[in-house]
Amino acid sequence: MARKTPDTQGSLAFERHFAGIYGERWPTLRQALLAPTNPEDLLVGLTEPYFLDSASVRAAQALEVKPGDRVLDMCAAPGGKTLVLALALKGTGHLVANDRSPERRARLQRVVQQHLPRVWSSNIEITGRDATRWGLYEQNVYDRVLLDAPCSSERHILNSPKHLSLWTPHRTKALAQQGLSLLCSALEVLRPGGVLVFSTCSISPTENRQLLERLEIKRKEKWTLEGVSEEFPDLQGTGPLFWARLRKNQLDEKPRDEQLDVFPKFSDHF
Ligand SMILES: C[S@@+](CC[C@H](N)C(=O)[O-])C[C@H]1O[C@@H](n2cnc3c(N)ncnc32)[C@H](O)[C@@H]1O
Repeated sequence: MARKTPDTQGSLAFERHFAGIYGERWPTLRQALLAPTNPEDLLVGLTEPYFLDSASVRAAQALEVKPGDRVLDMCAAPGGKTLVLALALKGTGHLVANDRSPERRARLQRVVQQHLPRVWSSNIEITGRDATRWGLYEQNVYDRVLLDAPCSSERHILNSPKHLSLWTPHRTKALAQQGLSLLCSALEVLRPGGVLVFSTCSISPTENRQLLERLEIKRKEKWTLEGVSEEFPDLQGTGPLFWARLRKNQLDEKPRDEQLDVFPKFSDHF
């Protein structure tokens, strides 16, 4: 195994990595990530306010859940985006809110119970599966799938001396690998014609657009890209939040060529 040195681990390695990606933009982005966040009480219809970054609300709304839909929130805890999906369902259809971590799942349960009217939480099922394996057990079932993937969360790293001292580029690669397994699983459980929103709060292209490029190589025939968005605190004052909206192709549908050409428009800084 390679020896860990200040070049490969910790704050210096972190700075070099992101300065290499963002160039002249990095000092401003770094400063914006260090600034306090500004969560807002944006969700109408809750029994108690829930404070959420507006970019997170937009990512969950990009799924365009309609009353009656069968929805899977694959990585749901602590549950901010679950609330957005539940508000769209208004107690109809079925919402499965899943998280593998027992502690975080307990928090998810509390968030659902404390913030939603009882009639609107009765259609929510909370589960604790490993979502990377979900596609092995259920296929072509859900109208809508939200994959808010575990990610590097560089805002958190930058604001935590302990996490910054432990950072290595390997971490972002490992999370991207897990993200790819989750994406493949999400495509399996989605019904043909159904919609998947993949989101992260990472600024690492490895965990965002490059993951979709890898998914295109692996599963090109399965999906069509319908939109992407990137909100970062230095430019939009919100996030960081990346999301992509994918539609699962019908069985006889031909895959589009070069669908990821859309990225340069959104990511001129890369
Ligand atoms: C970014 S957080 C989700 C935030 C949540 N969507 C929200 O809006 O509050 C990612 C979550 O994925 C969960 N997770 C990580 N790996 C998982 C897996 N293989 N299966 C299911 N959940 C997983 C983590 O426990 C964590 O709670």
